[in-house]
Amino acid sequence: MLDRMHLSGSLVLSLTLASAVVLADTNPADNANYQKKFPKQYQSWLATQESDTLTDALGGDPNLVILWAGYGFSKDYNAPRGHMYAISDVQKTLRTGAPMTADEGPMPMACWSCKSPDVPRLIEGEGEADYFTGKWAKGGPQIVNNIGCADCHVPGSPKLRVARPFAERAFVALNTPFNEASRKQKQNMVCGQCHVEYYFEKTAAQPNWVKFPWDMGTGVEQIESYYDSIAFSDWQHQLSKAPMLKAQHPGYETSLVGTHGQNGVTCTDCHMPKVTNAEGKRFTSHNIGNPFDQFEATCAQCHSQDKAFLMEQIEQKKQRVNQLKLEAERQLVHAHFEAAAAWKAGATQAQMQAALQDIRHGQWRWDFAIASHGVAAHAPEEALRILGTAINKAADARIKLAHILAQQGVMTVVELPDLSSKASAQAYLGMNMEQMEQQKAEFLKKIVPLWQQEYQQTMDSK
Ligand code: HEC
Ligand code: HEC
Ligand code: HEC
Ligand code: HEC
Repeated sequence: MLDRMHLSGSLVLSLTLASAVVLADTNPADNANYQKKFPKQYQSWLATQESDTLTDALGGDPNLVILWAGYGFSKDYNAPRGHMYAISDVQKTLRTGAPMTADEGPMPMACWSCKSPDVPRLIEGEGEADYFTGKWAKGGPQIVNNIGCADCHVPGSPKLRVARPFAERAFVALNTPFNEASRKQKQNMVCGQCHVEYYFEKTAAQPNWVKFPWDMGTGVEQIESYYDSIAFSDWQHQLSKAPMLKAQHPGYETSLVGTHGQNGVTCTDCHMPKVTNAEGKRFTSHNIGNPFDQFEATCAQCHSQDKAFLMEQIEQKKQRVNQLKLEAERQLVHAHFEAAAAWKAGATQAQMQAALQDIRHGQWRWDFAIASHGVAAHAPEEALRILGTAINKAADARIKLAHILAQQGVMTVVELPDLSSKASAQAYLGMNMEQMEQQKAEFLKKIVPLWQQEYQQTMDSK
């Protein structure tokens, strides 16, 4: 610093710039560092920002508000969009609340785990225990880079890697450590770091660690047995009081059992195809999005049917899955209200136990199928099979509840309130949306810019 004062203004400037470049180079999470070396991959990766449509899932289907009553997802839930929105979307969702200090909840650090290459950077620097300790807000000033190069690659290299130790442990539990996996398996596994079912393991030594519940296998029934065996639940349902499970996004698990997965077609074949640019150079498109947008490079590599025909095939599968999804929701929503009515009529825990377990299992299965985004394209039969068992479990619950209600002297049909819109369902549950939204706006205005400043300062001072 002292030396610099003796230098001329322009020299100081160029020195500062030069050192900034060198310093930035040491940050493996900063995607911009790889732009020069890998321009084609970088530019196509950047293009994921073009997939910017935000779809309000609760608005489109108010049943969801009831099914997730008492849990964050009933506040706000959007369909996924481009990887480039991962950080801002997790900051904006009402689920992460409006923490004004680093220690304020509601969510734990674990909520950053699938959003950024800053996550492996932090874990490599301070260890998993430190990373997972504390509330989500603690990570705000440390996690700013969207899903990028170092999430899937050894930093600065085209070599693939699984950057998250908790993901690697799960692959090891399935007897496939990443380094022993085939090239095709690796192409799936890099996505399987995030597009999977996971939960937050709480033990005395581990505050809230991400764990993939694969100890008994990756099928919906096996994971259900695993969760039952450790008596895990994500929350207690506000209406039925059932001990609920929230499925995350088990796209990896369901995709592997679909026709394509069984035939060794990988996520990369459809979402990251090899393409040729204007100069005739071949490279992997990093614009991960809808495979139909790059039809010639994806489906058409293996299929001779035309685009319109295959799109129609997938559309029909979507409609069938959607039909059973809505059937399952209708049964589950009724079951939650009937359980609430049974409690109100004085039913005991002992009477309710078995019905609540059916609700838990039914909703888990419904959620597992539909939270596997893209499941109608990846594994439609598996989705329909799972939804079929979900409807069955909900029916089991409703039969039991009808008996309990009769025992308690309730002979009339349990009526549903107005659930015609997201707002009416949320109002029924007593949720103060206006207040949540105001607090969120304040958080986005006051806290998020401070996080960005602090990140910059930390990086500059390193
Ligand atoms: C979500 C995972 C993922 C992310 C994020 C990612 N890559 Fe890749 N990358 C892959 C996969 C998969 C391949 C293809 C590997 C194969 O062919 O087996 C690949 C291939 C490559 C290659 C090899 C040459 C080629 O085009 O096939 C380079 C170089 C590369 N990526 C650079 C980058 C850069 C730079 C970034 C950040 C801007 C990045 N990648 C982000 C998954 C990713
Ligand atoms: C580090 C975690 C992570 C990795 C690795 C990852 N994803 Fe994602 N992916 C996400 C998140 C989070 C979103 C949702 C982002 C949002 O909505 O803000 C998402 C969204 C998507 C979407 C929706 C895009 C759109 O435009 O609608 C697709 C498709 C997708 N990912 C496929 C893949 C594939 C294929 C791979 C592997 C090559 C992969 N992802 C690797 C976390 C990840
Ligand atoms: C055979 C091709 C194929 C394979 C293999 C494949 N996908 Fe997909 N994926 C699709 C299609 C087609 C869609 C649906 C696009 C649409 O909505 O029309 C889709 C949708 C998705 C979505 C939802 C996007 C959204 O915005 O709702 C995600 C996430 C996703 N895939 C991730 C993956 C992951 C992760 C893998 C590997 C484990 C994978 N896909 C394997 C073809 C494929
Ligand atoms: C790497 C090769 C490959 C790619 C890429 C690929 N498929 Fe396939 N597809 C297959 C194979 C193999 C089968 C199974 C064929 C069989 O059993 O006869 C299949 C089967 C299908 C089927 C019928 C069976 C079913 O269960 O769905 C449809 C529909 C389909 N593919 C659509 C698509 C679409 C849409 C895309 C692009 C998003 C795509 N495929 C990309 C190889 C591929």
